Amino acid sequence: MTQLDLIRALPKAELHVHIEGTFEPELMFAIAQRNQIEIAYQSVEEVRQAYNFHNLQSFLDIYYAGAKVLILEQDFYDLAWAYFEKCAEDNVVHTEMFFDPQTHTERGIAFATVLNGLKRACDDAKTKLGISSHLIMCFLRHLSEEAAFKTLEQALPYKDQIIGVGLDSSEVGHPPEKFARVFAKAREAGFLIVAHAGEEGPADYVWQALDMLKVNRIDHGVRSEEDPELMQRLIRDKMPLTVCPLSNLKLCVVDDMREHNIRRLLQQGVKVTVNSDDPSYFGGYMNDNFIAITQALDLTADELKQLAINSFEASFISDTEKQMWIAKIQAL
Ligand code: ADE
Ligand code: ZN
Repeated sequence: MTQLDLIRALPKAELHVHIEGTFEPELMFAIAQRNQIEIAYQSVEEVRQAYNFHNLQSFLDIYYAGAKVLILEQDFYDLAWAYFEKCAEDNVVHTEMFFDPQTHTERGIAFATVLNGLKRACDDAKTKLGISSHLIMCFLRHLSEEAAFKTLEQALPYKDQIIGVGLDSSEVGHPPEKFARVFAKAREAGFLIVAHAGEEGPADYVWQALDMLKVNRIDHGVRSEEDPELMQRLIRDKMPLTVCPLSNLKLCVVDDMREHNIRRLLQQGVKVTVNSDDPSYFGGYMNDNFIAITQALDLTADELKQLAINSFEASFISDTEKQMWIAKIQAL
């Protein structure tokens, strides 16, 4: 089997994808039109041309602008359904998707509108495509602690539909410690915990996510390699990192995919996984990310299998389900 065939054949779990970041320009135009909302671009081509980022913030500005056309429950359903169809193409059999409620509630959209649309798509993905999923709600870290507390309150009635809480948006200047009290309350309420750390921010932010937020996974975390003590901690605790190669390239976290550290992290025993982050903006979904690192870093078949195994081990599914998928990978 070629590497490409193996990538396609591997069942995979996606653990780091922002549903608002899967918004393809074609769907954005269609939804803008039916909601009679003006967007700043004349055509799909013009939108794609705007996707030239020099750092995280230059992307976030465009990402939040795009999300403004989402108004109705059906819009959120259509957004998530389009992503599930990509999962089916890429043999992503389980996904844990982030959503940013504050991007919508700040515009006057009800929390329930967002959640009900996404949840209905998740239910349909299970019955029609056989894809399982969990929802993870992220706090926007550029907003206040108070706003995060308010969002947590809004989520409590939906506790059984949201498996965890996360932390995203502009990293530098907004360290995890800013949200330590919110995450303590979320943990008490029974949510699992993840946080973006060590994407643009320093290794110290990863320490804070571990020790102050008490995360179950780190999102990105690629800058952990700058701190050998932190590396030992991640390896000892089998702490997963949800790495997003094409995102790192597009946001200039790395200058060239051949310089990406995912293979070194894997070889040192860090539980790294491959993910797409914001695939509509960064040039590819799950398999595109696998293909990009395989070509740039010469990954072996065993390494590709280990990355797929890690994705299930690091997921929030049951041990029985984990074992079932891992056995299928090992049989390939
Ligand atoms: N929101 C969407 N994608 C993100 C990323 N890569 N980092 C931080 N916040 C995000
Ligand atoms: Zn992300």
